[in-house]
Amino acid sequence: MLGSGGREHALAWKLAQSPSVEKFYTSPGNPGIGHHAECVKLDVLDHAAVIQFCGRNRIDLVVVGPEAPLVDGLAESLRSADILVFGPDKAPAQLEGSKGFTKDLCARANIPTAGYVRTTNQSDALAALEKFAIPVVIKADGLAAGKGVIIAETRAQAEEAIEMMFEGGFGDAGAEVVIEEFLTGEEASFFAITDGKNVIPFGTAQDHKRVGEGDIGPNTGGMGAYSPAPVLTTALQKQVMDEIIRPTVDTLAAEGKPYSGVLFAGLMLTETGPQLIEYNARFGDPECQVLMMRLQSDLAAIMLATAKGQLGQISAPEFDTRSALTVVMAAKGYPSTPEKGGKIQNLARAEREGTKIFHAGTAEVDGKLVANGGRVLNVTALGHNTTEAQTKAYAAVDQIDFESGFCRRDIGWREVGRERAV
Ligand code: AMP
Ligand code: GLY
Repeated sequence: MLGSGGREHALAWKLAQSPSVEKFYTSPGNPGIGHHAECVKLDVLDHAAVIQFCGRNRIDLVVVGPEAPLVDGLAESLRSADILVFGPDKAPAQLEGSKGFTKDLCARANIPTAGYVRTTNQSDALAALEKFAIPVVIKADGLAAGKGVIIAETRAQAEEAIEMMFEGGFGDAGAEVVIEEFLTGEEASFFAITDGKNVIPFGTAQDHKRVGEGDIGPNTGGMGAYSPAPVLTTALQKQVMDEIIRPTVDTLAAEGKPYSGVLFAGLMLTETGPQLIEYNARFGDPECQVLMMRLQSDLAAIMLATAKGQLGQISAPEFDTRSALTVVMAAKGYPSTPEKGGKIQNLARAEREGTKIFHAGTAEVDGKLVANGGRVLNVTALGHNTTEAQTKAYAAVDQIDFESGFCRRDIGWREVGRERAV
């Protein structure tokens, strides 16, 4: 497996439970992943080196955690060398690598999404802007570590965002810009696994992207999440499968770019139905942690069947009907300049039945665990509903000694509020 975050720790934890997994390696991994896998150092940009490693160690399946190697075409290089891989090729990974690619695909396949214009120069962008109401959404086309989206509340802000992007504010990611209609509603995430032909739903979640309680302040990679997301009712999930996921998979296959791996759809539940905000070509972080906490089926078997194009031959994945909630403990200063090296203690004390602590940015220095990144720990718990999962997750948080860390105390507030109201 490739990756080093909380998402990869959750995948490693689940993979290690698969009877078919004898041994696996993770690059670069982290101290939590090290409990389940041998951590090695590979340069993911050097596809030949990764292929050579797989050959030497007789690797049966490669799991790619993050998006960058997928968008860079690593899965495709591995497939060309006859190595099975969980993750899409370069062309279909453009669903995450290029917002314009996804918008054009939605237009061709009649998938509900916000109205948009794609431009590669500033004057066209400024001219197109006039057709949009305010607020308006300005997006850098390429990968920008989740920071390439600006919601402009005034025309001046929108113009400023466009100028900033074309002046290289997001590097190459902003060489092309997408201007989008602003959608209103509640956001939710939907996951599906596909081998390019067969598609199976793989759970729902909601996350909290802003750093501050009440969902305020700068955007982060995600400060917490829970699964399932009951706002995505069975009827809505069916609608998402029929109107968004299936047309995406079918269109890509018909156009000679079959998508294999997990498809993570960010949705806006608008008054007129679910609309696609964006696709990711990988599991969400920290959404993956709550999905893995609930997954009861054999993850390795699911991933292998996906990689082999045999998803039609396995039974539907089963999830615990309970709720899982994860609280991200981050290093002070995150998301701008997280403090490195802060001591972390008492994880064993905090981890009980139904509670799991996934490592994200941690490191071991002289046998002691320290913070080594922005998001450091994902404290995850199961409960009969979101409220109970929340109570258990915070009880575990309170056992952990991480002085230079912080977390939001309101993860799950929307759902907890709804549960309280009934
Ligand atoms: P993205 O990176 O595309 O997921 O965008 C980041 C966040 O910006 C999303 O999670 C939404 O909160 C918001 N966003 C993106 N596009 C829109 C839109 N068209 N309307 C309203 N909010 C949006
Ligand atoms: N938590 C959002 C993401 O992984 O993109």
